[in-house]
Amino acid sequence: MSEGQTPQDKKRAAGYGEGGVAPAMSVGDVAREAETMGASVSRGDILALAGPEPVLELRDLHAGYGAMEILHGIDLAIGAGKSLCIVGPNGAGKSTVLHSIFGFTKITGGTVITSGRDVTQLTPSDKLRDAKIAYILQDNSIFPDMTVEENLLMGGYLLNNQRKAHEAAEKIFAQYDRLAKRRRERAGVLSGGERRLLEISRSLIMDPNVLLVDEPSIGLEPRMIDMVFEILADLRDGHGKSIIMVEQNAKRGLEFADIGYVMVSGRVALAAAGRELLENPQVGRLFLGS
Ligand SMILES: Nc1ncnc2c1ncn2[C@@H]1O[C@H](COP(=O)(O)OP(=O)(O)O)[C@@H](O)[C@H]1O
Ligand SMILES: [Mg+2]
Repeated sequence: MSEGQTPQDKKRAAGYGEGGVAPAMSVGDVAREAETMGASVSRGDILALAGPEPVLELRDLHAGYGAMEILHGIDLAIGAGKSLCIVGPNGAGKSTVLHSIFGFTKITGGTVITSGRDVTQLTPSDKLRDAKIAYILQDNSIFPDMTVEENLLMGGYLLNNQRKAHEAAEKIFAQYDRLAKRRRERAGVLSGGERRLLEISRSLIMDPNVLLVDEPSIGLEPRMIDMVFEILADLRDGHGKSIIMVEQNAKRGLEFADIGYVMVSGRVALAAAGRELLENPQVGRLFLGS
Protein backbone atom coordinates (compact mmCIF):
# COMPACT_ATOMS: atom_id res chain seq x y z
CA MET A 1 0.00 0.00 0.00
CA SER A 2 1.61 3.25 -1.08
CA GLU A 3 1.56 6.37 1.05
CA GLY A 4 -1.27 8.82 0.64
CA GLN A 5 -3.89 6.26 -0.29
CA THR A 6 -7.30 6.98 1.14
CA PRO A 7 -9.57 4.21 2.47
CA GLN A 8 -11.53 4.71 -0.76
CA ASP A 9 -8.42 3.88 -2.80
CA LYS A 10 -7.86 0.82 -0.69
CA LYS A 11 -11.38 -0.32 -1.32
CA ARG A 12 -10.93 0.21 -5.03
CA ALA A 13 -7.71 -1.74 -5.01
CA ALA A 14 -9.55 -4.57 -3.28
CA GLY A 15 -12.11 -4.64 -6.06
CA TYR A 16 -14.88 -2.70 -4.39
CA GLY A 17 -14.63 0.50 -6.36
CA GLU A 18 -15.68 -0.78 -9.75
CA GLY A 19 -19.34 -0.01 -10.14
CA GLY A 20 -19.39 2.04 -6.97
CA VAL A 21 -20.58 5.56 -6.49
CA ALA A 22 -19.07 8.27 -8.69
CA PRO A 23 -16.32 9.96 -6.70
CA ALA A 24 -17.82 13.42 -7.17
CA MET A 25 -20.99 12.46 -5.29
CA SER A 26 -21.04 11.89 -1.58
CA VAL A 27 -23.12 9.12 -0.06
CA GLY A 28 -25.49 11.84 1.18
CA ASP A 29 -25.84 13.31 -2.33
CA VAL A 30 -26.67 9.91 -3.72
CA ALA A 31 -29.26 9.28 -1.03
CA ARG A 32 -30.86 12.70 -1.56
CA GLU A 33 -31.06 12.36 -5.30
CA ALA A 34 -32.22 8.77 -5.06
CA GLU A 35 -35.11 10.01 -2.90
CA THR A 36 -36.38 11.94 -5.90
CA MET A 37 -36.56 8.81 -8.04
CA GLY A 38 -39.77 7.89 -6.25
CA ALA A 39 -41.49 6.52 -9.36
CA SER A 40 -44.22 4.19 -8.30
CA VAL A 41 -43.70 0.61 -9.33
CA SER A 42 -46.96 -1.29 -9.66
CA ARG A 43 -47.56 -4.88 -8.65
CA GLY A 44 -48.38 -5.51 -12.31
CA ASP A 45 -44.86 -4.41 -13.33
CA ILE A 46 -43.32 -6.60 -10.65
CA LEU A 47 -45.30 -9.67 -11.73
CA ALA A 48 -44.65 -9.08 -15.43
CA LEU A 49 -40.89 -9.03 -14.77
CA ALA A 50 -41.03 -12.26 -12.74
CA GLY A 51 -42.56 -14.39 -15.49
CA PRO A 52 -45.33 -16.95 -14.99
CA GLU A 53 -45.83 -18.64 -11.58
CA PRO A 54 -43.29 -16.94 -9.34
CA VAL A 55 -41.45 -19.26 -6.92
CA LEU A 56 -41.19 -16.44 -4.43
CA GLU A 57 -43.33 -13.39 -3.93
CA LEU A 58 -43.55 -10.55 -1.44
CA ARG A 59 -46.85 -8.72 -1.29
CA ASP A 60 -46.93 -5.31 0.33
CA LEU A 61 -44.43 -6.38 2.96
CA HIS A 62 -43.95 -4.17 6.01
CA ALA A 63 -41.12 -5.21 8.29
CA GLY A 64 -38.42 -3.92 10.58
CA TYR A 65 -36.52 -4.35 13.79
CA GLY A 66 -38.27 -3.85 17.13
CA ALA A 67 -40.62 -0.90 16.84
CA MET A 68 -38.84 0.54 13.81
CA GLU A 69 -40.40 -0.14 10.43
CA ILE A 70 -37.72 -0.30 7.71
CA LEU A 71 -39.65 -1.76 4.78
CA HIS A 72 -42.75 0.21 3.88
CA GLY A 73 -44.66 -2.07 1.54
CA ILE A 74 -42.34 -4.11 -0.66
CA ASP A 75 -43.62 -6.05 -3.66
CA LEU A 76 -41.20 -8.53 -5.19
CA ALA A 77 -41.54 -11.56 -7.44
CA ILE A 78 -39.15 -14.00 -9.06
CA GLY A 79 -39.65 -17.05 -11.28
CA ALA A 80 -37.78 -20.36 -11.21
CA GLY A 81 -34.23 -20.23 -12.52
CA LYS A 82 -34.20 -16.42 -12.52
CA SER A 83 -32.03 -13.92 -10.73
CA LEU A 84 -32.94 -10.62 -9.15
CA CYS A 85 -30.48 -8.01 -7.91
CA ILE A 86 -31.39 -5.24 -5.49
CA VAL A 87 -29.25 -2.11 -5.63
CA GLY A 88 -29.60 1.20 -3.82
CA PRO A 89 -27.91 3.52 -1.35
CA ASN A 90 -26.57 2.36 1.99
CA GLY A 91 -29.30 1.91 4.54
CA ALA A 92 -32.09 1.64 1.93
CA GLY A 93 -33.20 -1.67 3.43
CA LYS A 94 -31.76 -4.09 0.87
CA SER A 95 -30.36 -6.54 3.41
CA THR A 96 -33.56 -6.16 5.42
CA VAL A 97 -35.51 -7.54 2.44
CA LEU A 98 -33.39 -10.70 2.53
CA HIS A 99 -33.66 -10.88 6.34
CA SER A 100 -37.43 -10.55 6.09
CA ILE A 101 -37.79 -13.28 3.49
CA PHE A 102 -35.80 -15.63 5.71
CA GLY A 103 -37.60 -14.69 8.93
CA PHE A 104 -35.06 -12.58 10.79
CA THR A 105 -37.20 -9.45 11.12
CA LYS A 106 -40.50 -8.48 12.64
CA ILE A 107 -43.10 -8.58 9.87
CA THR A 108 -45.98 -6.23 10.61
CA GLY A 109 -47.90 -6.46 7.35
CA GLY A 110 -48.06 -8.21 4.00
CA THR A 111 -47.07 -11.73 3.01
CA VAL A 112 -44.19 -13.92 1.87
CA ILE A 113 -45.34 -16.58 -0.57
CA THR A 114 -43.40 -19.52 -2.01
CA SER A 115 -44.97 -21.47 -4.84
CA GLY A 116 -48.41 -20.23 -3.86
CA ARG A 117 -48.06 -20.98 -0.12
CA ASP A 118 -48.06 -18.33 2.60
CA VAL A 119 -44.84 -18.77 4.59
CA THR A 120 -44.75 -15.34 6.20
CA GLN A 121 -44.63 -16.62 9.76
CA LEU A 122 -42.25 -19.56 9.35
CA THR A 123 -39.05 -19.53 11.40
CA PRO A 124 -35.71 -19.47 9.57
CA SER A 125 -35.28 -23.23 10.19
CA ASP A 126 -38.64 -23.95 8.64
CA LYS A 127 -37.89 -21.61 5.76
CA LEU A 128 -34.82 -23.69 4.99
CA ARG A 129 -36.34 -27.12 5.60
CA ASP A 130 -39.90 -26.70 4.34
CA ALA A 131 -39.97 -23.62 2.13
CA LYS A 132 -36.67 -24.45 0.38
CA ILE A 133 -35.21 -20.99 0.90
CA ALA A 134 -31.55 -20.64 1.88
CA TYR A 135 -29.84 -17.54 3.19
CA ILE A 136 -26.13 -17.12 2.60
CA LEU A 137 -24.74 -14.99 5.38
CA GLN A 138 -22.96 -11.80 4.43
CA ASP A 139 -20.57 -12.15 7.35
CA ASN A 140 -17.74 -14.52 7.28
CA SER A 141 -19.58 -17.50 8.70
CA ILE A 142 -17.12 -20.32 8.14
CA PHE A 143 -15.83 -22.15 11.23
CA PRO A 144 -12.06 -21.83 10.76
CA ASP A 145 -11.05 -24.69 13.07
CA MET A 146 -13.35 -27.23 11.47
CA THR A 147 -12.43 -28.96 8.23
CA VAL A 148 -13.93 -27.99 4.90
CA GLU A 149 -16.01 -31.15 4.99
CA GLU A 150 -17.27 -30.53 8.54
CA ASN A 151 -18.26 -27.00 7.54
CA LEU A 152 -20.14 -28.33 4.55
CA LEU A 153 -21.99 -30.90 6.65
CA MET A 154 -23.15 -28.12 8.99
CA GLY A 155 -25.47 -27.16 6.15
CA GLY A 156 -27.41 -30.33 6.92
CA TYR A 157 -27.90 -29.75 10.64
CA LEU A 158 -31.66 -29.74 10.14
CA LEU A 159 -31.73 -33.18 8.55
CA ASN A 160 -32.73 -36.07 10.81
CA ASN A 161 -30.81 -38.38 8.60
CA GLN A 162 -27.12 -37.55 8.44
CA ARG A 163 -26.67 -39.99 5.57
CA LYS A 164 -28.58 -37.53 3.42
CA ALA A 165 -26.21 -34.74 4.41
CA HIS A 166 -23.23 -36.91 3.48
CA GLU A 167 -24.78 -37.77 0.12
CA ALA A 168 -25.46 -34.12 -0.60
CA ALA A 169 -21.89 -33.23 0.44
CA GLU A 170 -20.44 -35.83 -1.95
CA LYS A 171 -22.46 -34.36 -4.80
CA ILE A 172 -21.09 -30.93 -3.97
CA PHE A 173 -17.51 -32.23 -3.81
CA ALA A 174 -18.02 -33.90 -7.19
CA GLN A 175 -19.11 -30.56 -8.59
CA TYR A 176 -16.48 -28.34 -6.99
CA ASP A 177 -13.03 -29.80 -7.32
CA ARG A 178 -11.56 -26.79 -5.54
CA LEU A 179 -13.35 -27.82 -2.35
CA ALA A 180 -12.90 -31.56 -2.84
CA LYS A 181 -9.13 -31.22 -2.90
CA ARG A 182 -9.16 -29.51 0.46
CA ARG A 183 -11.95 -31.36 2.20
CA ARG A 184 -9.80 -32.55 5.10
CA GLU A 185 -8.02 -29.25 5.62
CA ARG A 186 -8.94 -26.62 8.18
CA ALA A 187 -11.37 -24.16 6.60
CA GLY A 188 -9.28 -21.36 8.14
CA VAL A 189 -6.60 -21.85 5.49
CA LEU A 190 -8.94 -21.27 2.55
CA SER A 191 -8.65 -18.12 0.45
CA GLY A 192 -11.46 -15.58 0.56
CA GLY A 193 -12.92 -16.88 -2.70
CA GLU A 194 -12.82 -20.48 -1.55
CA ARG A 195 -14.50 -19.52 1.68
CA ARG A 196 -17.28 -17.82 -0.25
CA LEU A 197 -17.60 -20.97 -2.35
CA LEU A 198 -17.87 -23.01 0.85
CA GLU A 199 -20.57 -20.69 2.21
CA ILE A 200 -22.57 -21.05 -0.99
CA SER A 201 -22.05 -24.82 -1.10
CA ARG A 202 -23.12 -25.24 2.49
CA SER A 203 -26.47 -23.69 1.63
CA LEU A 204 -26.92 -26.27 -1.14
CA ILE A 205 -26.97 -29.24 1.25
CA MET A 206 -30.70 -28.64 1.82
CA ASP A 207 -31.35 -28.41 -1.93
CA PRO A 208 -33.04 -24.99 -1.80
CA ASN A 209 -35.10 -23.54 -4.65
CA VAL A 210 -34.33 -19.95 -3.70
CA LEU A 211 -30.94 -18.58 -2.65
CA LEU A 212 -30.70 -15.27 -0.80
CA VAL A 213 -27.22 -13.86 -1.30
CA ASP A 214 -26.05 -10.70 0.43
CA GLU A 215 -23.06 -8.96 -1.19
CA PRO A 216 -21.36 -11.99 -2.76
CA SER A 217 -18.45 -9.94 -4.08
CA ILE A 218 -17.60 -8.12 -0.87
CA GLY A 219 -13.96 -8.35 0.14
CA LEU A 220 -12.93 -10.49 -2.83
CA GLU A 221 -10.30 -9.77 -5.43
CA PRO A 222 -11.57 -9.46 -9.03
CA ARG A 223 -10.58 -12.98 -10.09
CA MET A 224 -12.49 -14.45 -7.16
CA ILE A 225 -15.49 -12.25 -7.89
CA ASP A 226 -15.56 -13.76 -11.39
CA MET A 227 -15.48 -17.24 -9.88
CA VAL A 228 -18.35 -16.51 -7.48
CA PHE A 229 -20.52 -15.06 -10.25
CA GLU A 230 -19.79 -18.06 -12.48
CA ILE A 231 -20.89 -20.40 -9.71
CA LEU A 232 -24.07 -18.41 -9.14
CA ALA A 233 -24.79 -18.37 -12.89
CA ASP A 234 -24.36 -22.14 -13.02
CA LEU A 235 -26.74 -22.64 -10.07
CA ARG A 236 -29.31 -20.50 -11.86
CA ASP A 237 -28.87 -21.73 -15.43
CA GLY A 238 -27.74 -25.31 -14.82
CA HIS A 239 -29.71 -26.16 -11.70
CA GLY A 240 -32.78 -23.93 -11.90
CA LYS A 241 -32.14 -22.10 -8.63
CA SER A 242 -33.72 -18.68 -8.19
CA ILE A 243 -31.28 -16.14 -6.82
CA ILE A 244 -32.13 -12.95 -4.99
CA MET A 245 -29.02 -10.89 -4.46
CA VAL A 246 -27.97 -7.63 -2.89
CA GLU A 247 -24.82 -6.26 -4.46
CA GLN A 248 -23.03 -2.98 -3.83
CA ASN A 249 -21.07 -3.60 -7.00
CA ALA A 250 -24.19 -2.55 -8.87
CA LYS A 251 -22.69 -2.94 -12.33
CA ARG A 252 -21.67 -6.51 -11.69
CA GLY A 253 -24.96 -7.37 -10.01
CA LEU A 254 -27.14 -5.87 -12.73
CA GLU A 255 -25.10 -7.50 -15.50
CA PHE A 256 -25.73 -10.81 -13.81
CA ALA A 257 -29.37 -10.40 -12.94
CA ASP A 258 -32.43 -10.98 -15.10
CA ILE A 259 -34.34 -8.50 -12.95
CA GLY A 260 -33.08 -5.38 -11.18
CA TYR A 261 -34.73 -3.35 -8.43
CA VAL A 262 -33.54 -0.01 -7.10
CA MET A 263 -34.50 0.43 -3.46
CA VAL A 264 -34.66 3.79 -1.72
CA SER A 265 -35.78 4.37 1.87
CA GLY A 266 -37.56 1.07 2.33
CA ARG A 267 -39.40 1.15 -0.99
CA VAL A 268 -38.84 -0.15 -4.51
CA ALA A 269 -38.24 2.98 -6.60
CA LEU A 270 -37.49 1.29 -9.93
CA ALA A 271 -37.89 -2.22 -11.30
CA ALA A 272 -36.81 -3.38 -14.75
CA ALA A 273 -34.78 -5.98 -16.59
CA GLY A 274 -31.23 -5.91 -15.20
CA ARG A 275 -29.76 -4.81 -18.53
CA GLU A 276 -32.33 -2.06 -18.83
CA LEU A 277 -31.43 -0.62 -15.42
CA LEU A 278 -27.77 -0.68 -16.43
CA GLU A 279 -28.63 1.65 -19.30
CA ASN A 280 -30.78 3.99 -17.20
CA PRO A 281 -28.78 7.26 -17.01
CA GLN A 282 -29.89 8.11 -13.48
CA VAL A 283 -29.01 4.64 -12.21
CA GLY A 284 -25.69 5.01 -13.99
CA ARG A 285 -24.90 8.30 -12.33
CA LEU A 286 -26.04 7.30 -8.86
CA PHE A 287 -24.87 3.73 -8.62
CA LEU A 288 -22.54 2.86 -11.48
CA GLY A 289 -20.16 5.79 -11.36
CA SER A 290 -20.76 6.76 -15.00
N1 LIG B 1 -30.41 -5.75 13.28
C1 LIG B 1 -30.84 -4.49 13.16
N2 LIG B 1 -31.43 -3.85 14.18
C2 LIG B 1 -31.88 -2.58 14.06
N3 LIG B 1 -31.79 -1.85 12.93
C3 LIG B 1 -31.20 -2.41 11.88
C4 LIG B 1 -30.70 -3.76 11.92
N4 LIG B 1 -30.17 -4.05 10.70
C5 LIG B 1 -30.36 -2.95 9.95
N5 LIG B 1 -30.98 -1.96 10.64
C6 LIG B 1 -31.36 -0.64 10.12
O1 LIG B 1 -32.23 -0.85 9.02
C7 LIG B 1 -31.98 0.10 7.99
C8 LIG B 1 -31.73 -0.63 6.68
O2 LIG B 1 -30.54 -1.39 6.81
P1 LIG B 1 -30.08 -2.45 5.74
O3 LIG B 1 -31.23 -3.29 5.32
O4 LIG B 1 -28.89 -3.13 6.29
O5 LIG B 1 -29.66 -1.50 4.51
P2 LIG B 1 -28.81 -1.81 3.21
O6 LIG B 1 -28.58 -3.29 3.14
O7 LIG B 1 -29.64 -1.29 2.07
O8 LIG B 1 -27.55 -1.02 3.34
C9 LIG B 1 -30.80 0.94 8.47
O9 LIG B 1 -31.31 2.13 8.98
C10 LIG B 1 -30.17 0.10 9.55
O10 LIG B 1 -29.56 0.90 10.51
MG1 LIG C 1 -26.80 -4.48 3.30
